[in-house]
Amino acid sequence: MLLNLGNIKIHIEKDFSTACELGANIIKEKLSKKPNSVIGFATGGTPIPMYKHLIEMCNHQEINFSEMVTFNLDEYFPISKENDQSYYYFMRENLFNHINVNFDNLHIPNGLASDVEKECADYENLIKTLGPIDLQILGMGLNGHIGFNEPDNKFTQGTNYVALQESTITANARFFNSIDDVPKKALTMGIKTIMMSTEILLLVNGEKKADILEQALFGEISPHVPASALQLHQNVTILADESAVANILKRF
Ligand code: PGA
Repeated sequence: MLLNLGNIKIHIEKDFSTACELGANIIKEKLSKKPNSVIGFATGGTPIPMYKHLIEMCNHQEINFSEMVTFNLDEYFPISKENDQSYYYFMRENLFNHINVNFDNLHIPNGLASDVEKECADYENLIKTLGPIDLQILGMGLNGHIGFNEPDNKFTQGTNYVALQESTITANARFFNSIDDVPKKALTMGIKTIMMSTEILLLVNGEKKADILEQALFGEISPHVPASALQLHQNVTILADESAVANILKRF
């Protein structure tokens, strides 16, 4: 089912994996039209089924990643690339090691940068130089964060160094041995960086995201719900399962 809200289109599937297949096809189409497309990647549990579809398509030679340029949304800080909880490791494990990418074209903030402010500025400049990002993939946190842009009194601008909120640390603790191991800081593209992308693909799964998705799309545009900024973007596609859009469907 497709809900067309003008600048925001919501594809709703019973099964989230089907929604993710649609996402993989959107990426395939982008790369077939423009092989050196700049794609913004996301981590977390949500995009994993879409990455599985991309790997499968690559195995069947239905998609070509050889010229793709990538920028990941964020990285914990401090964390080494070898740490299996780093987003660098995650992306290799869940996607990049299994597809025909050129590793020179992949960009993820450096979780061990000696000068974090410089790392953020350099990352932002590189996005400006190689971008714009043609398609930015997003997940959304339970508190409405996109990237690691947590609820705040103002929207973030460029790539920045942030403190993670307690709810994010708790939500992400499931990936670590103990909650104490979850890094407390991160480097993340800012809301403005994300909003500069030509097109956005937001993946949302599960009833636990239903309230925050409704707030993000139908509530006030506010930095207290960072994803609400997407209401101002011209080209957003949301791929969701039925439970994630339960509240929204009641409005129609
Ligand atoms: P999740 O995280 O995909 O693991 O739910 C999303 C996010 O925090 O952006």
